Amino acid sequence: MSILITNIKQLLQVHESNITIVKGDDMKKLPVLENAYVYIEHDTIIEYGDMKDCEGIDAETTIDASGKLVLPSWCDSHTHVVYAGDRTSEFVDRINGLSYAEIANNGGGILNSAKLLQNTSEEDLYNQSIKRLDELIKMGTGAVEIKTGYGLTVEAELKMLRVIKRIKQDSLAKIIPTLLAAHAIPEEFRLKKQDYIKLITEELIPKAVELNIAHYIDVFCEEGYFDIKDTESILKAGAQYNLRPKIHVNQFNILGGVALGAKHNALSVDHLEELNEDDVEALKHSETIPVALPGCSYFLNIPYTPARQLIDAGLPLAIATDYNPGSAPSGNMNFVVSAACVKLKMTPEEAINAATINGAYAMGISNMYGSITRGKKANLIITKPLNHYSEIPYAFAHNPVEQVIINGQLL
Ligand code: NIG
Ligand code: FE
Repeated sequence: MSILITNIKQLLQVHESNITIVKGDDMKKLPVLENAYVYIEHDTIIEYGDMKDCEGIDAETTIDASGKLVLPSWCDSHTHVVYAGDRTSEFVDRINGLSYAEIANNGGGILNSAKLLQNTSEEDLYNQSIKRLDELIKMGTGAVEIKTGYGLTVEAELKMLRVIKRIKQDSLAKIIPTLLAAHAIPEEFRLKKQDYIKLITEELIPKAVELNIAHYIDVFCEEGYFDIKDTESILKAGAQYNLRPKIHVNQFNILGGVALGAKHNALSVDHLEELNEDDVEALKHSETIPVALPGCSYFLNIPYTPARQLIDAGLPLAIATDYNPGSAPSGNMNFVVSAACVKLKMTPEEAINAATINGAYAMGISNMYGSITRGKKANLIITKPLNHYSEIPYAFAHNPVEQVIINGQLL
């Protein structure tokens, strides 16, 4: 299988040598080749360059991309795309004035989704989830992190992991599974949270590791969920099995989760709608990437992550959808890129860096994904005719994607 894409108006995120992350001021740079070609064999980017140098390349399929842009597929490093049903009634409750916390305290929220998932067959859960994933792929996403966390029993968390495993086998997208058993305190443990933590650390983590699916461990470090001490003990238990942390922190309250994440060498700390100077300082001395989730801020009407504060301090930043039924029921990375510009005050270059190479870093796969580099995986977006890449965030809620190539296959 070989594909040659010719006459590309702008080929974005081109890197001769393999990069794995961009930070601070470098995020303002987006390397672009005008009037370019890309040549793919099987699942790999083999060559790219100026159109005048593509003579003599013979491919099984040639795509004329005149007037169009080509860029690496979006890398969505934070999703909960495996879930059952929806939470539209809570959405209406919020419109009518209830807060996310009030809904959760009344037995709604994550516990509501957990109940639904527990009562959904594995087959049905798979079907619902793969359908969502197929939609994401059509919108340009080529790599996706997927969390558990709507099971909240050993049995249901393992069911989620098996569904994620099946998706990983069946989907062309790169799937990165994360164990988020510490997503909420189940009703039956309401007055004995420590028992649930014990269940996670002593039973669930070892069983999950046995299935050999999860790459990372996540905790919802938040008031009313898991505090700093809880979070640390879960991260320590995960570390014994080489599960590196990727954690939910600072969504509503600052508990110190950012520094804790940095201390435990978290790959990412996600949300950060709330942020203080200590958090920024802690990240400066770490390998941990902050991740902003503008779709969640939009949907819950909460503050947007102060991206400028992070980037202007020289830090990297990734953006992701947080696709889930409660706080962000959309997996559209095109919208996230636009919201990053409009609401987080990121430039188009910063937003595209955050959604490609840095998204890949936040999943631990940026050596193979997230840029147009020889030898990297052929996950590409071919846009509709556009004059400039800034039109991607500019025309918000528009779908700029015309075709996608994923794992070397044209969809
Ligand atoms: O990332 N904050 C925790 N988890 C999800 C929301 C989960 C839910 O409401 O179902 C999030 O926003
Ligand atoms: Fe989340």
